Amino acid sequence: MKILGVVGSRRKKGNTSTLIQEALKPFKLNNIDTKLIFLDDYNISDCTGCEGCKETYKCVINDDMQQLYPDILEADAIILGSPAYFYNVSADMKAFIDRCYCFEIFDKEDRSVWMGLNEAIGGKYATVIAVSEQEKEEDMGFTAEAMSKSLEALGYRVVSTVKALHLFKAGEALNNNKVLEDANKAGEKLLKHLQLKEKVKAQISKNHL
Ligand SMILES: Cc1cc2nc3c(=O)[nH]c(=O)nc-3n(C[C@H](O)[C@H](O)[C@H](O)COP(=O)(O)O)c2cc1C
Repeated sequence: MKILGVVGSRRKKGNTSTLIQEALKPFKLNNIDTKLIFLDDYNISDCTGCEGCKETYKCVINDDMQQLYPDILEADAIILGSPAYFYNVSADMKAFIDRCYCFEIFDKEDRSVWMGLNEAIGGKYATVIAVSEQEKEEDMGFTAEAMSKSLEALGYRVVSTVKALHLFKAGEALNNNKVLEDANKAGEKLLKHLQLKEKVKAQISKNHL
């Protein structure tokens, strides 16, 4: 089992990074392979909309995203986290999501028929963590939904969402037990889904279903 955490903030010791690492803790406790990536460490260009990926499901842009595609494909679950930047995800997170367009598959004759690659290769799960400075949820805007809707379109089932409000300074989340607990619980819930999936798969094979 492999879990991928993706940090959409450039503040390495910021709140998004802190909370994603907290959500990964239950996996680490269970000796499950985790990988944490900071998008800022990669040179990821914007999707050009060239549609060059549509036959192969491989993006034709040769940049650092090519290093991340295997991580995405190998992971059984993904945790996406972003600060609210003007009511939406950070530009780094938006570029990352858009470059996953190569995993979005459309029927050639009828583009209203489409699916995420994950739907074809088997169920995958996700958690979303959105962070904002203001206290009111409305000031976070679409940050969480921009990630969860995109993940759903890519065929992930989003089983937990954390909206961490009222965090401004980098690392402030470390002093906020409530958000730390929310992130940890979100990670636990994600883990439980994966464990249930393994159990069901074992039962299916045992019972020759
Ligand atoms: C460019 C920019 C735009 C922001 N927009 C919002 C916003 O729309 N709503 C909000 O509540 N906070 C906003 N913030 C505050 C950040 O979301 C907040 O400081 C968050 O804790 C940063 O997370 P990080 O520590 O992971 O970088 C903005 C910050 C920046 C730098």
